[in-house]
Amino acid sequence: MSNSNKIDEEIFYPSEEVIQQARLKNWNDLADFAAKDLEGFWEKEAEELEWYQKWDKVLDDSGKPFFKWYTGAKTNIVLNAVDRHQKTYRKNKLALIWVGEDGDVRTMSYFALNREVSQFGNVLRAMGIQKGDRVTIYMPRIPEIIIAMLACAKVGAVHSVVYGGFSQDALQERIDDSQSKLVITADGGWMNGKIVELKKIVDASLRKCPSIESVIAVKRTGHDVRMEPGRDYWYHELIKLPIANGFCETEQMDAEDPLYLLYTSGTTGKPKAILHVHGGYMVGVYTSLKYVFDLTDQDRWWCAADPGWVTGHSYIVYGPLLMGATTFMYEGAPTYPYPNRWWALIEKYGISVFYTAPTAIRGLMRFGESWPKKHNLTSLRLLGSVGEPINPEAWKWYHRVIGNERCPIMDTWWQTETGSFMITPTPTVPLKPGSGTRPFFGQEAEILDEEGNPVPDGEEGNLVLKNPWPSMMRTIYKDPDRYVEQYWSKYPGKYLTGDSAKRDKDGYYWIIGRVDDVLKVSGYRLGTAEVESAMVSHPAIAEAAAIGLPHEVKGQAIHVYCILRAGYNGNDELNEELIQHVAKHLGPIAKPEKINFVDSLPKTRSGKIMRRVLKARAQGLSEGDISTLEE
Ligand code: PRX
Repeated sequence: MSNSNKIDEEIFYPSEEVIQQARLKNWNDLADFAAKDLEGFWEKEAEELEWYQKWDKVLDDSGKPFFKWYTGAKTNIVLNAVDRHQKTYRKNKLALIWVGEDGDVRTMSYFALNREVSQFGNVLRAMGIQKGDRVTIYMPRIPEIIIAMLACAKVGAVHSVVYGGFSQDALQERIDDSQSKLVITADGGWMNGKIVELKKIVDASLRKCPSIESVIAVKRTGHDVRMEPGRDYWYHELIKLPIANGFCETEQMDAEDPLYLLYTSGTTGKPKAILHVHGGYMVGVYTSLKYVFDLTDQDRWWCAADPGWVTGHSYIVYGPLLMGATTFMYEGAPTYPYPNRWWALIEKYGISVFYTAPTAIRGLMRFGESWPKKHNLTSLRLLGSVGEPINPEAWKWYHRVIGNERCPIMDTWWQTETGSFMITPTPTVPLKPGSGTRPFFGQEAEILDEEGNPVPDGEEGNLVLKNPWPSMMRTIYKDPDRYVEQYWSKYPGKYLTGDSAKRDKDGYYWIIGRVDDVLKVSGYRLGTAEVESAMVSHPAIAEAAAIGLPHEVKGQAIHVYCILRAGYNGNDELNEELIQHVAKHLGPIAKPEKINFVDSLPKTRSGKIMRRVLKARAQGLSEGDISTLEE
């Protein structure tokens, strides 16, 4: 090994170089301070940002679990992500570098970003979008998705970004639930050399969305799409109108005013909208990026997620811009046209910190080392992982081949609900492959058994978080009861994560996976219920049960068990038709790996499908307690 990390029983210690470079040298001191004075810690962090008006109180827990942060304060996340940089040298530095799958490149300074966001903000206001209105954003990974999100926030509208890999039913459900007035989309986007027909999917969804008054479409691919007169407008035409010009005032928001809704899959039923607010969320993502990735405005940061998921919200859009860093975004697939696309981009644009998901690492590992080895990746100083547990093999490959044994890997555990990292190392913390190490500053975690007792170290149990934090979700939109029920009832006063985990003797946490009916397919979060309802919307299917089974690259793959209606045959043709049906209605990301036609499903006496039994059977494991089973 080089002069870098020594390995000691699978512990990777930071090198001298990493320690020298790190701004935060003493993790313990800061952790102690935050543990002793939670509000003091979060007040100090908030003071690094700008506020139109400071808070009366840092944390108001009088209505818990409806915690409030920075009450009485006025701000806007855009004030800090865009506006404040205009007064400094950052005005002339790059906010964004974007590369299209087809090779298009666009760069934008903070000055240009402000201009574009202001123009689009003016357009939104002219179209009647006001503070509190919901706007659905359904776009490819192009600069305008960032502009659209920021413009919504600037005028006080609440954005609801729906991932472009979802299809018509998923989009329709999310538009309808949020009662959005406007959809912002594009004609299409490039993915794997093909056009993703976003506008067509919007058109199909809108047949059932009466709340929508208008659609704005960005021209990305330039292929022919239908534009409905009086409803649909081209983005490039709108921003050329005189109304787009001139100063666009940033709306002064209460710290607790909503910033966005983000739909995510829960235990049962429909996806729920997680609500995040301007003030606390802003402080949370800023602070986490500053300490965990030691990010500064000198960095070229690449978070290779999609803005349609929380990782993209916090760490492609808001976090890096709050830091004044340069955020890098690539539109397409990592393997297009060859499996070195990502590595070539890191080299070409001098990326200093790279953050991706284990599934992507595993997928690229399969192509061998020769692809990354073609590139000079020495600009990298840190790597990151998120979305699912990273298996030690993938961790070591990432560390050795991409990081050249120089770059520590920040394995960040968090959720849509938490808004920012919750269990994570910082650069100088000794690492164990597969563990996110310890809770972030101000946070405490516990692993509990069903009765609420802490389990001994080394044993598996339910992971809970003990302390409130600024970027925590505020509620489930329109469903506060479900918020309390789902996250705060099992162990009153503690936040239930839905994950099972272990803690080792050093206090390091090891995430095992979800304990509920949430699937993690290639890092994407999907509910079994969503897949099942897409399946039963096909005329051949009477009943369906979806489970996730281990998959080498995807982490989990969807397996469906279904009962056919009379007159249908479970043949290959129907199998393929069902897979396409799920892709069309829910999204290509939800395509089942395997469909099994069965005569019955294991159910409880009250008629609930026992997915756990299906899962055990499929893996040849013990079925556990089946006293309630009635087949
Ligand atoms: O199971 C955990 C897993 O992803 C879940 C949250 O999914 P989502 O809301 O889509 O957010 C993903 C990105 C933040 C968690 O409950 N998860 C996330 N990060 C990790 C992880 N599991 C293990 N290690 C991680 N680093």
